[in-house]
Amino acid sequence: MDLQGKHIVLAVTGGVAAYKAAELARLLVKAGATVQVVLTAAGARFVGAATFQALTGRPVFDDLWDTRVGNGMAHIELTRAADLVVVAPATADVLGKAAHGIADDLLSTLLLASNKPVLFAPAMNREMWGHPATRRNVAQLQDDGALISGPAAGEQACGEVGEGRMVEPDDLLQDIVAAFQPKVLSGRTVLVTAGPTFEAIDPVRGLTNRSSGKMGYAVARAAREAGARVVLVSGPTALPAPHGVQRLEVTSAQEMFDTVMAQVGSAQVFVATAAVADWRPLQVHAQKQKKQDGGAAPTLALQPNPDILATVAALPAPPFCVGFAAESENLAEHAAAKRLRKKVPLLVGNLGPDTFGRDDNQLELFDADGHRPLGRGDKLMLARKLVAEIAVRLTPSGR
Ligand code: C5P
Repeated sequence: MDLQGKHIVLAVTGGVAAYKAAELARLLVKAGATVQVVLTAAGARFVGAATFQALTGRPVFDDLWDTRVGNGMAHIELTRAADLVVVAPATADVLGKAAHGIADDLLSTLLLASNKPVLFAPAMNREMWGHPATRRNVAQLQDDGALISGPAAGEQACGEVGEGRMVEPDDLLQDIVAAFQPKVLSGRTVLVTAGPTFEAIDPVRGLTNRSSGKMGYAVARAAREAGARVVLVSGPTALPAPHGVQRLEVTSAQEMFDTVMAQVGSAQVFVATAAVADWRPLQVHAQKQKKQDGGAAPTLALQPNPDILATVAALPAPPFCVGFAAESENLAEHAAAKRLRKKVPLLVGNLGPDTFGRDDNQLELFDADGHRPLGRGDKLMLARKLVAEIAVRLTPSGR
């Protein structure tokens, strides 16, 4: 329940993406928020007030002269009660009005009267989005402190292909949740490894492990919520990339190593959550190895993989490095020793491998001062705590 106790004004303007706003309203309610929908006249042409009322359990406001508000000032009352105003979809028209302070209907007046953060999710034809007037308006709104989510690129309702689609409701929800997180990593680049690696034996077989990637993906999402640019180097997982994170997909440990080394120069933080295979087959067969009837089982000769974390930590000017240690016993002893061996300032211990694949976890932090629990719970909640711990340890310049 990421939005428990939050009150969101969801303003829906006149674009075909208004149908996605209905799904967004449902997701916001599911995440624990109370949602007050404001509909423009053009928005109501696409989706009716009854749909939003049913989804949010609250009557919709669509008129500046609404008499339901005691003092007759719906534009003021609605934003005072809100924690965040979300305009989704935001047409070129509403962006233009908001950028210029025009107030000629309930929504535009509410935006001018608002003393709350406002997040716009633009949606329009790609030429309209690329038009210098829209570019100026968006730049002005950002200058004024507004948050802009998207737009995404792809197929448009008009049949054209390009940038201007409203961000999908699931992704928009992530941006809305992020709007409430402190921006403790703003201006930083965070490099994260996640998931298992897969070491090929032949074209159909390989060595891998049970890592789901969930902890690393949660760290990537939490770092992005904290305002960082995030590069996620991921082994094979079934997880969708967190919104706004650059995901680079790899298979083997060697590929993960090469990709990390190519990216690490721009990172101020490196978080190694991946369960990297320690060994790979000495020989990768080009053809599937055949089973011989009655023949002996083959012997698999292995060679060590490079240690990505230790290599990054040993660079002349390394980023702030965070390692993970999954231990099945004597966590404190093994994790503290591992931190020294890998020469990293911070190591996160968890009592694995039972935590693999689960949504919750129990973590312990190890640093030069000793160790203490980070807590137990949802992996995203723990990842946010870890991000806060990393942020306080960074020097102002980052490296
Ligand atoms: O040595 P061990 O695998 O127990 O260390 C775990 C930590 O080191 C994790 O942070 C893991 O991502 C990282 N690691 C790595 N490259 C390896 C092995 C582990 O980055 N080859």
